[in-house]
This record gives sequence, C-alpha cells and structure tokens, in this order.
Amino acid sequence: MSAIARSIAAAAALFLAGAVAYVSSTRAKVSNATPRTEAAVASTPSPQAPSDSKRSAFIPPPLNAMPKDDFGKMVRLGEQIFEDPAHHASAYVGNDLRCSNCHLDAGRLANSAPMWGAYVSYPAYRSKNGHVNTFEERLQGCFRFSMNGKAPPLGDKVLVALESYSYWMSRGARVDPDIAGRGYPKLDKPPMPADYKRGQQVYDENCALCHGAHGTGRQANDGSPGFPALWGPDSFNWGAGMGSFENAAAFIRANMPLGLAGSLSVQDAWDVATFMDSQERPQDPRFTGSVAETRQRFHNSSNSAYGTVVNGHLLGSDSITSGGHPRATETSSRP
Ligand code: HEC
Ligand code: HEC
Repeated sequence: MSAIARSIAAAAALFLAGAVAYVSSTRAKVSNATPRTEAAVASTPSPQAPSDSKRSAFIPPPLNAMPKDDFGKMVRLGEQIFEDPAHHASAYVGNDLRCSNCHLDAGRLANSAPMWGAYVSYPAYRSKNGHVNTFEERLQGCFRFSMNGKAPPLGDKVLVALESYSYWMSRGARVDPDIAGRGYPKLDKPPMPADYKRGQQVYDENCALCHGAHGTGRQANDGSPGFPALWGPDSFNWGAGMGSFENAAAFIRANMPLGLAGSLSVQDAWDVATFMDSQERPQDPRFTGSVAETRQRFHNSSNSAYGTVVNGHLLGSDSITSGGHPRATETSSRP
C-alpha cells in the first residue's frame, strides 16, 4: 500500500470509528434514558410530522421495570428476540437484520412504528393479505418479509414472547389504531417527482458512511449491532413494507441519518428512498415464477420499483431466492 493509500485508509478507519462511537452513544442515550428524558425523546415531533404526532405520545415503561416472575421472563425473551432475532429466533430469520433496526429503541420509540402503537391496533383488516389479522399474524408478516425468513407457526414461543413484550410495554396505552406516535409519520408528497439520481447523491453524502457505498451495511466484529444492510442478499426482501417508497421515505425522514433525524428535506427523503428501493434484494416470497406477473399481482403501484427497469436492469429478475441463507450458529428457538 502506498503512503497516500495508507493515510486515506487510516482516515477512513478513524471516520468510521467515530461513527460507531457516535451511534453507540446515541443508542445508549436512548435506552438508558430516565423517564424524564424518555418523555422528551418520545414527544419530540420531527419538524414535518403531521400535527397528529404533536400530541404527546405514550411513554412505555423503562426496560428495567420488567417483572421478575415467569411472565417477566417471557417479556424479557421477547425483548431479546426483538433486538437479536438471529440468535434468539434463528430458525425464522433469513438475513442480518434485527427488528430494532426499523423499530428503534427496542420497538419503543414514537414515530418509529413502536410495538405499543401496534399492540393496541390489532386485530385489523390488512389489504396486503385481504383479511382481518391478529397481532400474532402481523408479527408473522415481519418474519416472512422484513426478516426474509419464515413465519413462526401461531402459538410458537417466538410469537408468544414478542406478543408478551409488546403487551407489557403497552399497559396503560389506549386501545386505538390512531394512537399518536404509531407507525412512521405520513410524509407529504415531494415538491418534484422523486428522482433516482438525486437520491444517489443524497445517499453518498448522508448514508454511505454508515450503510456502506453499496448498501451492504457493516458488520461489527464483536457481535454488537453494526450498520444494517439496506439492499442486497442480507437485507429485507421484495415483499417487505420498507420496500415501498412511501414507507421508506417516511421512516427515513423521521429516523435517519441516525442521530440527525428530521434533517433531510421531504424531497431528499423521497429521492433517497427511491434510490434505496430500486436496488436488487432477495425475491418476493410470493413470486409466481414471472416478474411481470408478480408485479401485476403484488406491486402494481407507483410505490414499488419491483418489475421496472432501472439502469437497464429488470428489478426482480436477478434476485436470490427468498428465505435467506442457512446460519452457521443455528440454534433452536423451540420451547
Ligand atoms: C426492514 C425494516 C423492518 C424490520 C427489520 C422489521 N420491521 Fe416490522 N415493520 C416495518 C415496516 C416498514 C412496517 C410498516 C409500518 C407502517 O405501516 O407504518 C412494520 C410494521 C410492523 C408491525 C405493525 C406496526 C403497526 O403499527 O401496525 C409490527 C407488529 C412489526 N412490524 C413487528 C416487527 C418484528 C417483531 C420484527 C422482527 C421479527 C420486525 N417488525 C422487523 C419494517 C421492519
Ligand atoms: C450514523 C450512522 C448512520 C447514518 C449516517 C445513517 N444510518 Fe440508517 N441506520 C443506522 C443504524 C445504526 C440503523 C439501525 C438502528 C438501530 O438498530 O437502532 C439504521 C437503520 C436504517 C434503516 C432500517 C434498517 C434497514 O436495514 O433497512 C434504513 C432504511 C436506513 N437506516 C436508511 C438510512 C438512510 C437512507 C440514510 C441516509 C439518509 C441513513 N440510514 C443514514 C445508522 C445510520
């Protein structure tokens, strides 16, 4: 390596170390928060959030308030699965993501699709599968699509644990699908049509440092959470909610860049979401054998790039099979 290359590499390593330290401190700040700071975190509206989210959001109990009895053990297992599903629910996980990568602060943060907002909103009709879903069935969907894995059977300990965790943190919240802070705050349409090229520039300037120039994320060597993959074989598959421009733009606007949430313009959020969701990722598990037919049946919307041609490539035509890769450390998640 030349001296110049060495010093560039050293500078890059320093920069990354800085980002990692910064992220750890952001994480620590969020999760060790006393109830008072939590209130501040939970109720800080992002600048463009709809007025609805300005109503103060529900504050879930701190993690250290979990009961110590048998119910508490199940709640704790749910939290462990939520933060590290590859180890605690490995049979059902096919990528390197964690539930908490998209539902921040262990599923507790308002406007980051918190589990307390979800728990009080089911059973509910979902157009995605055309029937009324229980909370457990909603959980199954995130394993199949967001985690690119398999749905745990209803009644499986993994679902019981996640449901217990969600129920425990929701005690005192109103049963109401419109509860403030649920989901990702709906974003206004962008002033100009979203654009892949501009999105690429937003990505390079604001995201690549943590998520990598090719969206593959960065794994930490010590097993601590690194930076999750935004596309490619280790990310969510084509059927996932984050694959919709609308959901991704809303998530990004409210939560990214981590630690600088709300700093991107509405336009930037839509542009970068369009760029991110126009890259190859694992196949949609509902794939019919034809990209055109799969688009027609499941992606027939201006919110999905699946089955469209981007940079000369038909998206979905080169996707690895859904369901993910076998894990080296396969452990049983069965009771
Ligand atoms: C790649 C990002 C991602 C990952 C990883 C992920 N989810 Fe989600 N999840 C989403 C998106 C996007 C939605 C839809 C949010 C919305 O519609 O506002 C969602 C919705 C949900 C909902 C319903 C929320 C509501 O208010 O109706 C639940 C429950 C849920 N996820 C649980 C989980 C669990 C449990 C895991 C881990 C096994 C997980 N998710 C992993 C992105 C993700
Ligand atoms: C300072 C580092 C950092 C920056 C910069 C950053 N992110 Fe993230 N991002 C993270 C981390 C860490 C997580 C997981 C959060 C967690 O687990 O608490 C994440 C999660 C995500 C997720 C959900 C998980 C997944 O893999 O799909 C998306 C989408 C995302 N980021 C997009 C972006 C975009 C787009 C930008 C640029 C506008 C960006 N991020 C900038 C660190 C960063």
